[in-house]
Amino acid sequence: MNHPMISGHAAVRAALRDSTRFSSDLQGDRDVRTYKQLPLEVDPPVHTVYRSILAPLFSADRVATLAPRFRTIADGLLGELSGSPRFDVCRELALEMVVRCLGVVFNRPGDVDEWRSWGPDVWISTPQGRSGAHLQAYLEQTFAAVAADPGDDAFTVIDQATFEGRPLSAQEKHGIANIILAGGRDTVVKLMTGFMWHLGHNAHDFDLIAADRTRIPRAIEELVRWLSPLPMMERIDRDAASQHAAARSPDEVREPAYVWVSFASGNHDTGVFTSPDVIDLQRHPNPHLGFGGGAHACIGNLIAKAETRALLEALLDSGARWQVVSETIEWAEFGASRVPGRFHSVDAAWTQRPTFSGKS
Ligand code: HEM
Repeated sequence: MNHPMISGHAAVRAALRDSTRFSSDLQGDRDVRTYKQLPLEVDPPVHTVYRSILAPLFSADRVATLAPRFRTIADGLLGELSGSPRFDVCRELALEMVVRCLGVVFNRPGDVDEWRSWGPDVWISTPQGRSGAHLQAYLEQTFAAVAADPGDDAFTVIDQATFEGRPLSAQEKHGIANIILAGGRDTVVKLMTGFMWHLGHNAHDFDLIAADRTRIPRAIEELVRWLSPLPMMERIDRDAASQHAAARSPDEVREPAYVWVSFASGNHDTGVFTSPDVIDLQRHPNPHLGFGGGAHACIGNLIAKAETRALLEALLDSGARWQVVSETIEWAEFGASRVPGRFHSVDAAWTQRPTFSGKS
């Protein structure tokens, strides 16, 4: 959609911190859903209440206990892929890693097959455009199941949550479940695919992290900056909205004044980052906005980083080496930087297959 764009590190950061002017009180994906994603599409103070429902699932302590399980998943997956000379990075590695890890994060391992069947996005492509029908059916069925038979999983947590003492409505439950299913999926798939693509083309960067594993956290931050897997989000500019309203007759319908807030432009701002078009895996400091900022800063960022770290460490421990043999990429331009906006496909060939000596 063709909204005005807020660009540049300082302006983006200021907008993210000013939810009074730049409001998230809107509903996105209007072609595929009729309810808000929560807590994403509300402002404080209501936002704080919804966010607190999710906070325990994403705490640093919980992520620390899940990290070894992500590593087991990564080892298993590399073991499976080592049987073929080539592999599809997007689907066979990144998507597979992400859906299996989400099975652990939400404690719903039995749902992984369903999530995989959706493909890279939660919205399925049809000849008529995107569809949310399958997701709606899944949410209705899953919430009915946990209401009848509560478990120790994220959907039960959401089902039993309250908002200032009252039970949540079905729309609120769907809105919370929707954002955790959608938010933690294509973004992480893109980050992992981007890593495999970059390291497959740049063996010296693989050697850099192989020589010293403590370099991995900075490398992950840098890929999040450079790729900006979620490049921008909508806000309603309340100042522009009230100016429009004042300029019109009172009985005219008010159009919300949507703007884009471009995290990617902040991440490629030459005033903040030296050579932002270059991937410098040891860039420091790295005050990127890839996980947003302000009240809505990504609640799942520790999960995303732990999953990616598990994959990188499994690759290093397995002795794997690979090359990208073909790729179909839709490029995006952020300032002077040219960055993959979408990886349609990345095929890689092992130059050394992963091997495991047993315990990792
Ligand atoms: C590399 C991976 C990821 C990136 C780049 C990313 C990026 C972002 C960004 C930029 C925002 C802020 C949106 C805004 O201000 O409007 C956000 C919010 C959010 N993300 Fe992530 N995300 C990632 C992974 C995840 C994961 C793994 C999960 C959960 C499993 C997740 C769940 C959420 C949720 C629930 C919000 C809304 C927070 C709120 O409104 O308070 N994200 N993410």
